[in-house]
Amino acid sequence: MKRTQFTPEKSCLLAVALSGLIIGAFLFSNLIRSVDNISSFGLCSLASAKARAAADYDATPTQLQSILHYATSKIVPQQSLAEISVTFDVLKTRSPCNFLVFGLGFDSLMWTSLNPHGTTLFLEEDPKWVQTIVKKAPTLNAHTVQYRTQLQEADSLLKTYRSEPLCSPSKACLRGNYKCRLALSGLPDEVYDKEWDLIMIDAPRGYFPEAPGRMAAIFSAAVMARGRKGSGVTHVFLHDVNRRVEKMFAEEFLCRKYLVKAVGRLWHFEIPPAANVSQRDGWYC
Ligand SMILES: C[S@@+](CC[C@H](N)C(=O)[O-])C[C@H]1O[C@@H](n2cnc3c(N)ncnc32)[C@H](O)[C@@H]1O
Repeated sequence: MKRTQFTPEKSCLLAVALSGLIIGAFLFSNLIRSVDNISSFGLCSLASAKARAAADYDATPTQLQSILHYATSKIVPQQSLAEISVTFDVLKTRSPCNFLVFGLGFDSLMWTSLNPHGTTLFLEEDPKWVQTIVKKAPTLNAHTVQYRTQLQEADSLLKTYRSEPLCSPSKACLRGNYKCRLALSGLPDEVYDKEWDLIMIDAPRGYFPEAPGRMAAIFSAAVMARGRKGSGVTHVFLHDVNRRVEKMFAEEFLCRKYLVKAVGRLWHFEIPPAANVSQRDGWYC
């Protein structure tokens, strides 16, 4: 696949920065624990609260594995540090949370580590690639997904989806919705049964005509976000917005009015539940 060219210096810098992010989070949490130990010295009534807090701040096995991995690997994630930081900033306020990621790759261990004690689930099109990555990082939670679309159908899907009632904002659902081709209808139950606080769309592949393209992932993320029942918004991150199809489908389903940040090739949307939006002008935006 087409990959960004990294110079050894750049790769090294990004690996050091990633390790720094994870080690920094770990050290900061230990510092908080130490301060807490000193300030509450002798106050037995706080002992159980302290013990709970200490357990919350302990590094998870995945975080420790992640430090080792990124400190010793020459292969770094494709997103830049500035792009990764957009999602990291949201994770710092929402974690532990439910984080759904389209695509498995060299960034997966990092995303799981940045959401300690939360649920981070990866959806990947290529079963062999799942095996390759999970072999190296067995704690990752990944499922294989079959897409029913191809990149070359993007224009016609956008032109015709409004004629299928089960694609409409008032009727669209995902589980079992075979009629709307943009709906990811056959995902594992875990995906439908959870409410996702953050959704990262960095897959499937969308750079050759027969590739699945990101149309269905974008549509399905919009349906999940609009259906949110919990408080707050759903954060949706879309990578590769330099490409025509990603941009077109984002404009149609994720909506410019919900775009809150654009960094490099990443767009960040905050999508409110449809139930909270008073002005409904028919379709998604
Ligand atoms: C843009 S990539 C996602 C890359 C990921 N965000 C990362 O930083 O590694 C989208 C898809 O390309 C495929 N892919 C990525 N790297 C690959 C590799 N080295 N070999 C085979 N497939 C790969 C996977 O199917 C993945 O879901």
